[in-house]
Amino acid sequence: MSSLFLRSLVFAPQLIRTTSFQYRNIHSSKILCQLLPNKSHRPITTAKKSPITWKTLASTFVIGGGFIMYMYYLKEQKDLKIEKDRRRQIGKAAIGGTFELVDPQGKTVKSSDFLGKWVMIYFGFTHCPDVCPDELEKLALVVDKLEKEHQLQVQPIFITVDPQRDSPSAVGRYVKEFSNKILGLSGSIEQIAQVCKAYRVYFSSGPKDQDEDYIVDHTIIIYLVDPEGSFVDYYGQTHDAEKIVNSVLLNKIKHDKLYGGDWFPSISLKGLTQPS
Ligand code: NI
Repeated sequence: MSSLFLRSLVFAPQLIRTTSFQYRNIHSSKILCQLLPNKSHRPITTAKKSPITWKTLASTFVIGGGFIMYMYYLKEQKDLKIEKDRRRQIGKAAIGGTFELVDPQGKTVKSSDFLGKWVMIYFGFTHCPDVCPDELEKLALVVDKLEKEHQLQVQPIFITVDPQRDSPSAVGRYVKEFSNKILGLSGSIEQIAQVCKAYRVYFSSGPKDQDEDYIVDHTIIIYLVDPEGSFVDYYGQTHDAEKIVNSVLLNKIKHDKLYGGDWFPSISLKGLTQPS
């Protein structure tokens, strides 16, 4: 090992001389080359003649990538259209729809008044001993959380299923006990029957006691309606405020994606993505 090292030291100057000689040779041959006619340099320039250059490769990627993205965009649009049609059908066939009721001031309120807003509707009656107060407290909490923690404005509505006892003003007073944001609505027996039918709300008055008091058995559901006026989700007693808040936020994300959302190609082609 050490002898090898020593030998390399002995041969070192010779090695340097040989390399410098070789370098001089290369150097001079280069000059010689420059003096010779250009033809002899052909091999150096062959790369230029190759049909595939970085430029063509790059443009192939750009065009190909653009095409794939466009195909993806078309597929996305098709899926969105199917989803929109599906929702429209659900909205028509199943839960929700238009209504006309009376607010605490005695003014007519139509479902179309809430277009452009997220709405949560709960059906009940002001004489309800425990379930309705619990659910309205929960509704008020959900609406406050959505507004304060997530900057989402939701209009909460309470609709009575007991219009004979719950006048518009009585409903107005009742909802104020839970939140100033809740809009209490009543109406004629026919109007209430119509909105309950639309939302598939079951209600049935029980027998009257000696004080003429009675219980109304009714569906305990909070309905979520999107800014297009379509029913999108519902929450029963087992859903706590936190669960409902998360679900509303998820529904909002879905909705925004469906109706001209944040997905970037739809920004440049927004005219095409507007709901018809
Ligand atoms: Ni109740």
